[in-house]
Amino acid sequence: MQLLDGKKIATEIQNEIREKVEELKSSSKKIPHLAAILVGSDGASETYVQHKVKACSNVGFESSLIRLDQDISENELLSRIESLNENTNIDGFIVQLPLPKHIDPEKIRLSIDPSKDVDGFHPTNVGKMAQGINTYLPATPMGILELIKRYNIVTKGKHCVIVGRSQIVGSPMSILMSSAIENGNATVTLCHRFTENLEKFTREADILIVATGIPGLITARHVKEGAVVIDVGTTRVPDATKRKGYRLRGDVDFESVSPKCSYITPVPGGVGPLTVTALLLNTLKAATEFK
Ligand code: GUN
Repeated sequence: MQLLDGKKIATEIQNEIREKVEELKSSSKKIPHLAAILVGSDGASETYVQHKVKACSNVGFESSLIRLDQDISENELLSRIESLNENTNIDGFIVQLPLPKHIDPEKIRLSIDPSKDVDGFHPTNVGKMAQGINTYLPATPMGILELIKRYNIVTKGKHCVIVGRSQIVGSPMSILMSSAIENGNATVTLCHRFTENLEKFTREADILIVATGIPGLITARHVKEGAVVIDVGTTRVPDATKRKGYRLRGDVDFESVSPKCSYITPVPGGVGPLTVTALLLNTLKAATEFK
């Protein structure tokens, strides 16, 4: 069993991005600028956004964090988005999810200018991705593709089983893994909450990607000997031995599953750092290629 070290790969890619930023600086070009909107003070969202802002400073990007009150009206949020759409100093921006219940996430997604949608969530960008047109890929699937690529994991002709059909991870991952792209060309099965006999499908996976948010869902009996297992889950579970009172737990029961795998991602330190890094790659694209 070999660990897929997301932290190491993320550092490698961030070093590459930093070099590109240096080149931009030395030719007096604009430094990429990412903005993030955070509504309310959900603990996990707060942490993710902090990681994104810190990653920007690591690679030499500019960043702006816009904190908005939990009770902000949908209209007020839409008008803040409109001003980011119009602000030529901002190359790309994200609205951190989940949003408070009184705000319709679909309206928000549609309001972001697709040319600045570095999360790749706008239907224009999802459509382009599905048709193989160069665009922003959603960060977590893109990060997973990078991880697969940099560990030289063969995907062509392999059976990739994805558990979870979210718009952020499972659904786009299923499109990308089956596409005719580098690190795609797999045969894909997409499982979800209504899949009957989950184990029957997951046991067939050469590559198993799990993104459900259900800690420990996948155990040894779900996994074929020699499979590649990628765990996207990061749920906070109470742990009195930790300073913060919780620890992060993946969707995969690492202890029982890891001895069976050829490769497996740890949680934390697997997919998470690559999600942040993929967002940086999209922001670089927004500031250069898509300008
Ligand atoms: N919440 C969980 N993952 C993501 C993500 O990739 N982008 C945004 N904006 N919010 C998230």
